[in-house]
Amino acid sequence: MRKKFIAGNWKMFTDLATAKKLTQEIVTLMAGNNKVDVAICPPFTYIQAVGEIVKGSNISLGAQNCFHEKEGAFTGEISPNMLADLGCKYVILGHSERRHKMGECDVTINKKVHAALASGLKVILCLGETLDERQANKTNDILKNQLDGSLAGVNKDNLDSLVLAYEPVWAIGTGHNATPQQAQDTHAFIRSWVSKHHGAETASKLIIQYGGSVKPDNAASLLHQADVDGGLIGGASLKADQFLGIIRAGM
Ligand code: 13P
Repeated sequence: MRKKFIAGNWKMFTDLATAKKLTQEIVTLMAGNNKVDVAICPPFTYIQAVGEIVKGSNISLGAQNCFHEKEGAFTGEISPNMLADLGCKYVILGHSERRHKMGECDVTINKKVHAALASGLKVILCLGETLDERQANKTNDILKNQLDGSLAGVNKDNLDSLVLAYEPVWAIGTGHNATPQQAQDTHAFIRSWVSKHHGAETASKLIIQYGGSVKPDNAASLLHQADVDGGLIGGASLKADQFLGIIRAGM
């Protein structure tokens, strides 16, 4: 039985005061509740402050991106080791906003995946098709390419440190979530890819989150699908009561 895993991706939102307040609210509301694994991923600049508040709680800390080198003359970049040093357990890689707005390709993402795993971080790797691709019945081809490319050279031993997040681009921030059936079908396809490449046992343990317009009122129907093991939450993770509403739906 896979334990549900809900992560909040705060994207480029909050300021220091809001980040601290939101974190404190989530920690308080989650006290004593270990039925679901929970992580929050603030902007880089607030990771340290948020990390101090979540220390000793059941909330894990994550980042939204990293560079693929350990250190060096890479102005403006952040290494996986720096994130681990601040107490991050997770890093989100290959988010659709990085693929489509910052031009990241699977080759770049693959380098980051290897670097993050080597530094001991767990990777939340995002995958997803655009609306045009779904309408052209290309969803599975696109996901296969993203999996082949982003996970090239990642071996079975590393899959314990991997979480996949299916985030259809057309569902992110739009209010149009995938239907529970669409999510289930796509997650089952993703799990079959993992099974084919890394074996059925590994695939059966892998956490696959759904992301894209998850709200407290649609969370239960998505999270109760057999292959949906959690959620990667954008907008609704910025309000403690909404985030907790989604977490409760996963119990
Ligand atoms: P929304 O929940 O705002 O649609 O964002 C989803 C997302 O991109 C999480 O990474």
